Amino acid sequence: MPLPLFPPVIFRDGTPARDAWNFAPGIVPLNHGSYGAVSTPVITAQRALQETSERSAIGWFPHIQTHTKNAREHIAGFVGADPADAVFVPNASAGATVVLNALRLSATDEILVTDHGYGAVLMAVRRLAQRTGARVTTVPIALEAEDTEVLAAFEAALTPDTRLIVVDQISSATARLFPTAAITALAHRHGARVLVDGAHAPGLIPDAASAAGADWWFGNLHKWPAAPRGSALLVTRDADRNDLWPLIDSWHADLPYPERFDMQGTLDVTPYLASPIAVDWIEDALGWDAARAAMIAGAEAAATAVAAAMQPHIDGPARPSVPTPAPSMRLVRLPGTLGASREQADGLRDRLFEATGIESAFTSFRGIGYVRLSIHLYTVSADIEDFIARAVPLLVRWSVEG
Ligand SMILES: Cc1ncc(COP(=O)(O)O)c(C=O)c1O
Repeated sequence: MPLPLFPPVIFRDGTPARDAWNFAPGIVPLNHGSYGAVSTPVITAQRALQETSERSAIGWFPHIQTHTKNAREHIAGFVGADPADAVFVPNASAGATVVLNALRLSATDEILVTDHGYGAVLMAVRRLAQRTGARVTTVPIALEAEDTEVLAAFEAALTPDTRLIVVDQISSATARLFPTAAITALAHRHGARVLVDGAHAPGLIPDAASAAGADWWFGNLHKWPAAPRGSALLVTRDADRNDLWPLIDSWHADLPYPERFDMQGTLDVTPYLASPIAVDWIEDALGWDAARAAMIAGAEAAATAVAAAMQPHIDGPARPSVPTPAPSMRLVRLPGTLGASREQADGLRDRLFEATGIESAFTSFRGIGYVRLSIHLYTVSADIEDFIARAVPLLVRWSVEG
């Protein structure tokens, strides 16, 4: 028996972490980064909240504001934010929308984004530009760029017209970290403000919101903290917080920030209320420091093994030398022209899933396709071995046959 590529995560109570997730038989879950995956104890906790709300609506809805405030304070602590700066939003896209809706830009203003930005967020930025006449400039940044090169690229791109920079803390397609605090300091020297897309940051970066150093930051709780979907936090240190409004205009919208976000009509807030439960569950089961260390070690081992299997079929290095990779996600090059566009990469994800039950993300950057491996606490060596045994030969075949 060959040794496993990395050991399985075992919780403090001696149980394997994998047992806490209930994946369907035959599924190989290697795509945590896209949609997250909720553990059985957290699903049970959220269902209990939903059942409580159904047993007595009057016993539930008038108390939502208090419950949400308590959950918000707890999650703010988890991401290193002041609770007075933080509000729940349904997802990262909503966080971006709330901030972009608040900006008063004019036709002479400029917004800087990077070519690593998340597609849907970039689309929202472009729509803002269309509404206001502002222009969007994309700062190209090499996948292999060091932090100093990233800062130099922004320094070169900033103009007297630049009002806003939108930059990822951890990028999606390229799975790398960006020095957002230094970018913010630079932007402030030029009179621009910074919105940090921290969709992947909660759980992966300690005190993710304060570490981002931005004017506005948002992060998904359904990704690495493995909370139920429908839960993200938006944090602002910005003086214009009174311009930030919930996307649902309802009874409490006249309250000051952040309270006006705590209750939005009859919205199901159980994803918000279950988020502290998810965060505490990982803390109790293993501890977040140990969880991060396990994900980093697993990601490194997985990428090394998959790259070794892919290397004979790739011209050049199978592993791009990303100097600051995302803690728990790694890219490995795809053979031939596979995944040359985002659409093709998404198509590959669906095709591989149909053929094998392997759930994996494929991404595309500057015309080159990558598999993006995600490692969470439930990931075991056998998942990666399975990818190498079944997915790699198929991908090689498809790269030749089309
Ligand atoms: C960097 C980044 N930003 C934003 C989002 C959007 O997240 P959501 O679809 O939950 O709004 C994602 C989702 O994967 C992401 O990776």
